[in-house]
This record gives sequence, structure tokens and C-alpha cells, in this order.
Amino acid sequence: MKILVCGGAGYIGSHTCVALAARGHDAVIYDNFSNSSPVAVERIAELAERPVALVEGDIRDAAQLAAALEGVDAVIHFAAFKAVGESCEQPLAYFENNIGGSVTLLQAMEAAGVANLVFSSSATVYGDPDSVPIREDAPLRVTNPYGRTKLVVEELIGDLCAARPGFNALLLRYFNPVGAHPSGRIGEDPGGIPNNLMPYISQVAVGARDCLSVFGGDYPTPDGTGVRDYIHVMDLAEAHVRAVETLRPGFGCQAVNLGTGQGVSVLELVRAFEEASGRKVPYRVIARRAGDVAMCWADPSRAAEVLGWRARLDLQRMCEDAWRWQSANPAGYRSA
Ligand code: NAD
Ligand code: UFG
Repeated sequence: MKILVCGGAGYIGSHTCVALAARGHDAVIYDNFSNSSPVAVERIAELAERPVALVEGDIRDAAQLAAALEGVDAVIHFAAFKAVGESCEQPLAYFENNIGGSVTLLQAMEAAGVANLVFSSSATVYGDPDSVPIREDAPLRVTNPYGRTKLVVEELIGDLCAARPGFNALLLRYFNPVGAHPSGRIGEDPGGIPNNLMPYISQVAVGARDCLSVFGGDYPTPDGTGVRDYIHVMDLAEAHVRAVETLRPGFGCQAVNLGTGQGVSVLELVRAFEEASGRKVPYRVIARRAGDVAMCWADPSRAAEVLGWRARLDLQRMCEDAWRWQSANPAGYRSA
């Protein structure tokens, strides 16, 4: 299949392009590099078992999308802004890029007769869950503008599938993606101070930052720190390959959780990383971060039923692979 991968130069997209190529699919990266580096595309080409094409473009550019969609069988749509805090300060930029960009992409797909879409959603659509593990039919609620953009786009895609029975979509709700390709050549490269736990821990371990701040030690969890469902990005990439292969006429629209089904606390992740890296990760416990939930992990059974997929890689592999990437590229793609 020929797959247009919008946002394919980013963290999850880059690993997905390598996985698509390994399965014999022709991936075309469509990215404006607003949060990624052309070096990632060079590295994807090095790891992929067949050529991966690049179109430098913006999903808000209808004309360029129309040209890129020629002969495409399915679209994987990763292209979005993703920082929760920034979305609270710049909500309009998030509405424009994440919602406006998605509408332009859907219009271009309809005009080009491309009827299969895999959309990057997030466990953020569950807000503060009533219970764990979280199933896909749990109540949806948003707690910040970023989360709202994910929920709105899920709903827009659902409406389009209802109006156009030929249109098929998978809404993939990721839990907490971490880790890197085992080669250490591609990985997560956040600019500035990382918002997320795993890249922060990696930067402390490599000596780029002094100490991890643990946000809250008084949650109602076994060790008092927040519990999340960390999932290896290689497993996530494999789930996208299954997703494009699952979409077919009459499939309709479904939401699917992508997680391991296991909760891991902040301190458990710190310890696992120390073991994998052989480095100390100094930390201090400070106040809770506004908007954080105590516990969030997936019921991954629908992914097994619908995609025939389950996560295989454990916490140790997540930490080892994250460390290999971080230690070989201490300044991310800027180290190249
Ligand atoms: P990322 O920022 O690394 O990748 C997104 C890519 O999209 C970047 O390469 C960026 O340059 C590109 N992009 C953004 N706006 C664009 C536009 N208008 N036109 C073309 N390209 C554009 O992020 P990621 O971590 O790989 O996440 C991918 C998707 O998964 C995002 O939609 C994100 O919201 C979602 N998601 C991520 C996580 C996570 O923790 N990483 C969790 C849940 C959901
Ligand atoms: N944490 C710290 N210190 C840090 C960073 C995080 O203690 O420096 C803690 C958080 O409080 C939380 C856990 O580590 O308990 C995980 O935090 P992350 O920021 O890595 O991940 P979140 O679960 O908060 O958020 C992630 C994505 C969001 C997405 C959400 C959906 O970043 O985009 O998952 O579940 F919406």
C-alpha cells in the first residue's frame, strides 16, 4: 500500500515509517518540520528496508495535499501540536493547527477519493477517569485545549464516517509512548525543557539536567506518585501497521486504546531507568502538577480484537532503548 504519513518526521511517525517499510508498504512523509528535524528523515531512510519519500508541506495547504494524495491508499495523521501547557496559553494556535489542519486534510482526502484514515488520538480524551483500566466506552471529557482538539477531531471523523459510508477510520488513543528504535538512531527529541517524564529522566541520566522533579508524592497510589501506562514506541509503530492493514470497505469508524494494560509509577520508572542505564537519577518530590490525574492505564482488549495486536516490549526494553538513543544523541538530532 502507499501510505501518506502526515507528521511522519516526528517521534511516533518516524518509528511508524520504519515499521511500514519493513512490512513492504510505501510510506510518504508529509511534514512541515514545525516540531521535527530533516535529520530524522535521513535516519528513517537509513533504517528503512525500502525508499521512504518526503514531501515538505503543511496539512493546512489544500493544494499541496491534493498533489501528495495522488495514488494514496490510506493516510496516517500524526500532524499536530501536542504540548498541554502551551495549548492553555495558545489555544487558537492549537485549534487552527490540530482542528483546522484536520478539516483541510479530510476535505483533501474526500476530493482525492482516499477513504482510509488512521488518526492519532490520546488517552487525554478520558480526562480524569472514573475507574481504571479504561475501556473505549468510558466517558469522554477534556481538561485542556489540547485534549479538546483531539476530542473534536475524533467527533468530526465520526460524523464524516456516518455521512460517507465508504469512509473508514481508526481513532487510536495512545497512552504514554516512550522508548526508541533499538538502533539508537531515531527517538524522541523534545526541544527545550521536556514536559514528559521519560525524556526528562533521560536528560538527567545523561547529565544535561541536574535533578528530576517528581510532581506529587501524595496521590492515592501504592507509592504516592502518579501511575501511567507506558508503551514502547516500537509496539505503537507496529499497531499503526496493523491499523492501515485493518481498514477496509465497510469498516466504519472505531476508537481503540493503545497501551500495555499495566500501570507504572513515577518512582518505578526512575528505578527501571537507573537499572537500564547504570546511572543515578537524582529526584526530589515537589507539589502536584495542575491538571494531572492519579492513575491512568488502558484496557487494551479491543486492540487485540480489532487489530490483532498487543504490546510485547516491557519496561526494561523501554528504558534500555530510550537510554541508547539519549546516550548516543545527547542533544537529540542536533547532535548529528
Ligand atoms: P511530534 O511533535 O514529534 O510529531 C508531530 C509531527 O507533525 C512533527 O514532525 C511536526 O513537525 C508535524 N506537524 C505538526 N503540525 C503540522 C502541520 N500543520 N503540517 C505538517 N506537519 C505538521 O509528536 P508525536 O509525539 O510523534 O505525536 C504524534 C501524534 O500523536 C500527535 O498528534 C500527538 O498529539 C499524538 N499523541 C502523542 C502522544 C505522546 O506522548 N507523544 C500521546 C498521545 C497522542
Ligand atoms: N512527571 C513528573 N515529573 C516530570 C514529568 C512528569 O513527576 O518532570 C509525572 C507526572 O506527574 C505524571 C507522570 O510523570 O504522573 C507522567 O507524566 P507525562 O507528562 O510524561 O505524561 P502525562 O500522562 O501527564 O501526559 C501524556 C501526554 C499528554 C496526553 C496524556 C494522555 O503528554 O499529551 O499522556 O494520557 F494527553
